[in-house]
Amino acid sequence: MSLRKSMVNRGLLILTCFFSFVIQLCLASKTRHFKWEVEYMYWSPDCMEGVVMGINGQFPGPTIRAVAGDTIVVELTNRLHTEGVVIHWHGIRQFGTPWADGTASISQCAINPGETFIYRYKVDKAGTYFYHGHYGMQRSAGLYGSLVVEVGEGQKEPFHYDGEFNLLLSDWWHKGSQEQEVALSSKPFRWIGEPQTLLINGRGQYNCSLAAHVTNSSSPQCQFRGNEQCSPQILHVQPHKTYRLRVSSTTALASLNLQIGNHKMVMVEADGNYIQPVAVDDLDIYSGESYSVLIHTDQDPSKNYWISVSVRGREPKTPQGLTILNYQTTSASKLPTSTPPVSPLWNDYNHSKSFSNKILALMGSPKPPTTYNRRIILLNTQNTINGFTKWAINNISLTLPPTPYLGAIKHRLSNAFDQKSPPENFPNDYDVMKPPTNTNSTYGNGVYMLEFRTTVDVILQNANALATGVSEIHPWHLHGHDFWVLGYGEGKFREKDAKRFNLKNPPLRNTAVIFPFGWTALRFVADNPGVWAFHCHIEPHSHMGMGVVFAEGVHLVKDVPNHALVV
Ligand code: C2O
Ligand code: CU
Repeated sequence: MSLRKSMVNRGLLILTCFFSFVIQLCLASKTRHFKWEVEYMYWSPDCMEGVVMGINGQFPGPTIRAVAGDTIVVELTNRLHTEGVVIHWHGIRQFGTPWADGTASISQCAINPGETFIYRYKVDKAGTYFYHGHYGMQRSAGLYGSLVVEVGEGQKEPFHYDGEFNLLLSDWWHKGSQEQEVALSSKPFRWIGEPQTLLINGRGQYNCSLAAHVTNSSSPQCQFRGNEQCSPQILHVQPHKTYRLRVSSTTALASLNLQIGNHKMVMVEADGNYIQPVAVDDLDIYSGESYSVLIHTDQDPSKNYWISVSVRGREPKTPQGLTILNYQTTSASKLPTSTPPVSPLWNDYNHSKSFSNKILALMGSPKPPTTYNRRIILLNTQNTINGFTKWAINNISLTLPPTPYLGAIKHRLSNAFDQKSPPENFPNDYDVMKPPTNTNSTYGNGVYMLEFRTTVDVILQNANALATGVSEIHPWHLHGHDFWVLGYGEGKFREKDAKRFNLKNPPLRNTAVIFPFGWTALRFVADNPGVWAFHCHIEPHSHMGMGVVFAEGVHLVKDVPNHALVV
């Protein structure tokens, strides 16, 4: 090589280094600003017009895409005229910013009509997340959207894919959320019933099946053509490629099962944590959960395939939600020739349990501490209070106080909420297989004060509801943390069950389900200063009191921005 050439080469090298340094600088932790306005608007999520809570005129709200390490800033203005609003960033742990968690009465006051609140927080971990309203039943009203965090510069996912899609699943009622709220709070109690439609990315088709002419059913042909708001979002793929599907569920009620005709799915991520890859034919997803699955487009490329979403765990009165996987080698308007996949029976709990038990942490994931400092057992029952139907935890039905806990605890306001710690257990002789003998419970808003940095075990104990032989599914979601799911079991939890806990590769998650008449054991480290909700993610249930509040290290919470304190 001539001297001149090598000097040019070296110069090029230096230049390249310089540019890649500059690019890295640009990529390194961006701040992403958003200005959002929340308002009610007319919309046709399932081709029937109704009122939804939208953001900037969109339903679902805008998708946030960011890179791990980024700071998100959302300036949220409440344009609702009659009620407050907050937005919770589901799955984001809010390390150092507990006031940005977006929980009314817990991390902040609801934002008044006309006012603006600034959410500013870091997204520290890649994964599939979403956001939603966390005041009253605003999630049922349609206040939600996706939040996708990609791996940071120089980081790699432990799997490969050529393209990705995002599927945000939800359920939709024709009865407005206010009326639903009144129904649930009425005496005698009125149940809201099953949703009319399942939505995929906010789109569904009421009273008309996409599959009508394939299944020869009597349902009318769909009228969605020309109605952009309810026409299904088709997934366009190339043959022989690998795609990542980010699936999350923000349903108010329904537990779901997702299937793709002819295609296996390999699960690789759950709630923003990597899991051991496992191939499944169908995917159970409960409200509050998210998954990434990989699919390989190795089927006949002259055909299209159904993607179907069906109800699990409650006798389904809601038709499947459908969209299409379109091989771009064929026309997207060609319907699949086969009928949509049939989901497992709604009450095939063995199927659901074996599915949940397949989810294990990817090798190299953080392991749980081998022992715990405190164990809290939470009995989930349905009760009555003065004739009102409620859900109660260890016989206390949560009613949130007007003053948010975070400020109240930080400033030692002793009259803002019950100072007595809620019970850590329930009576030994309680029969979880039978309806409660004494249905009376009480309202409460006490806090489990956790010693900072200690390890907490929570045993969620399911039981019989008010009606004989009935026990429901409850997906519990923890704010501010991921927990390890140590195990699931049947009947009443016994000390000896702890010997079977999975301490080797339990998955880290932020949501875990309890099965009917069973228990679920969780472990987490109370290492995030703040006040954190832990509740059933079924919105009517949490609205009826199914939740508790944890607090830890609140004295360490510093520099609360003024806008987060103004009451
Ligand atoms: Cu996604 Cu407290 O909830
Ligand atoms: Cu529940």
